[in-house]
Amino acid sequence: MAALIETFYHRVLRPLLFQLDPERAHRLTLAMMRPLALLREPAVDPPALATTPWGIRFSNPIGLAAGMDKDIRAVAGWQAIGFGFAELGTVTPLAQPGNPRPRLWRLPEHRALVNRLGFPSAGMEAAARRLSQLRRRGLRIRLGLNLGPNKDTPQERVASDYAALVARLGPMADFIVINVSSPNTPGLRDWQSPARLAPLMRPILAEAIKLTPHRPVLVKLAPDLDAPVLASVCEAVSAAGVDGLVACNTTTAREAVGVRTEYEGGLSGAPLNRRARAMVAEIRRRTGAKIPIIGVGGVFSAEDAYGLICAGASLVELYTALVYEGPGLVRRIKEGLLELLQRDGLSSIAEAIGAAAPAKESELS
Ligand SMILES: Cc1cc2nc3c(=O)[nH]c(=O)nc-3n(C[C@H](O)[C@H](O)[C@H](O)COP(=O)(O)O)c2cc1C
Repeated sequence: MAALIETFYHRVLRPLLFQLDPERAHRLTLAMMRPLALLREPAVDPPALATTPWGIRFSNPIGLAAGMDKDIRAVAGWQAIGFGFAELGTVTPLAQPGNPRPRLWRLPEHRALVNRLGFPSAGMEAAARRLSQLRRRGLRIRLGLNLGPNKDTPQERVASDYAALVARLGPMADFIVINVSSPNTPGLRDWQSPARLAPLMRPILAEAIKLTPHRPVLVKLAPDLDAPVLASVCEAVSAAGVDGLVACNTTTAREAVGVRTEYEGGLSGAPLNRRARAMVAEIRRRTGAKIPIIGVGGVFSAEDAYGLICAGASLVELYTALVYEGPGLVRRIKEGLLELLQRDGLSSIAEAIGAAAPAKESELS
């Protein structure tokens, strides 16, 4: 069955999808994930793949990155293709349409995408309805919720947008991600300044503390922070009591990651992988094992995922590779991870986290 789906994707489906406008292809993919969930019973993961950041057990460390399933439409499908978790969203408090089209492009020669979607979202009430339906179905897959402010929220109300989202949706999530790193919402990335991040996080964490059991709150960072800023951000989030970091979002860099394109927006995919790994290693170097990291950016293979884990990531996410490689990729990565663990004489993913000694000097420029 797995081989059949693989061949079908590469020979038939991908060529068809790539003929379509990328956003149409995306909508069609989400629609196809639902029947896939009926066809496929999710495989049980071997215990060696389990990882337990924040005391929460993930049956495997591979998750769907934010942005693919913004409105929580295909969760059973993500479970069916083998993800251990899915980060859903970005969800905004009120529904909003996002930026005008076109706003999503493929760069096949780079195995990359450029998007400037700008958080199209059905809003938090729609998300709450879908999440409570899902909870009733008792799915095994862990769910993260990625949260963002509305585009027209004034700066002084951004913290209350996040806090309202945490209060409404937090009880239905396994973990929460505060997105301050999308390049497509004006001013959003400025919240990553260490001086602004701590006051932003205070009301958010105050809201999260009310949740029982505790839901870890993570901050998602951009890959475009330079090393000194990243160091101060690590200090600020540790001091504020943030539970984890997600590294990284899409990049606004082009030449620095070897890409030439006229499309403006966030670049994702293969060109991001080196940068993501360097960032995870640097965060690990700065924070030790105290703050679990989700590594994301250009993961196309088991080696890429293992690279992020050995650099210090407890969990790994992907999005762009799913577009290029299809749904069989998740199973291949998990099989490859088991082989890599065996090659290195490790008995579990937990043992591999941070196993590559962090570089003495930062690899970040
Ligand atoms: C089309 C698209 C939409 C995205 N939307 C979001 C989003 O809404 N929120 C977010 O935090 N990240 C978003 N991302 C970023 C991804 O979650 C991820 O951080 C980034 O793409 C790097 O991973 P990848 O190389 O595996 O795609 C988006 C990425 C893409 C390609």
